[in-house]
Amino acid sequence: MLIEQILPNCALHAHRVVEDQRGCLVALESEADVPFRIERVYYLFDTARGATRGFHAHRELQQWAVCVAGACTITVDDASERRTVTLDTPDKALHIGPGVWREMRDFAPGSVLMVLASQPYNEADYIRDFDEFVASRRAKPPQ
Ligand code: TYD
Repeated sequence: MLIEQILPNCALHAHRVVEDQRGCLVALESEADVPFRIERVYYLFDTARGATRGFHAHRELQQWAVCVAGACTITVDDASERRTVTLDTPDKALHIGPGVWREMRDFAPGSVLMVLASQPYNEADYIRDFDEFVASRRAKPPQ
């Protein structure tokens, strides 16, 4: 369920939580709960105190980021607007589309940031230079 459109190509969603006296469960199905075919899953954990990650954009890749334990912030920027979102519960997800610069920071100790991705790892899909990213967005406004 959409909670908030953060940028034209980036939105905060709420997962359906199945809760009973034993606790909570979230299930994510490809092309259903997550609006793309999931081709890869990776997760960040044991993040060093004060460490930052990301600092890149993708040309084609879509991602669905869930902080399944702990908390972190994700700053997203489409070269028109910069917003910062806090992920601090496992029932929220940030859907990041192509053409969005992202920076992850403020990882609480013990945090696990899980990312579902629409394509296998491909370094050619990355834009790792912010000025190059802004130039690419100027050439191609947000879809
Ligand atoms: P990097 O892109 O720097 O991570 P982040 O954006 O979270 O800061 O990736 C760190 C290393 O891990 C780099 O050598 C590439 C490798 N990697 C993979 O092999 N597969 C993957 O799916 C990802 C995301 C990274």
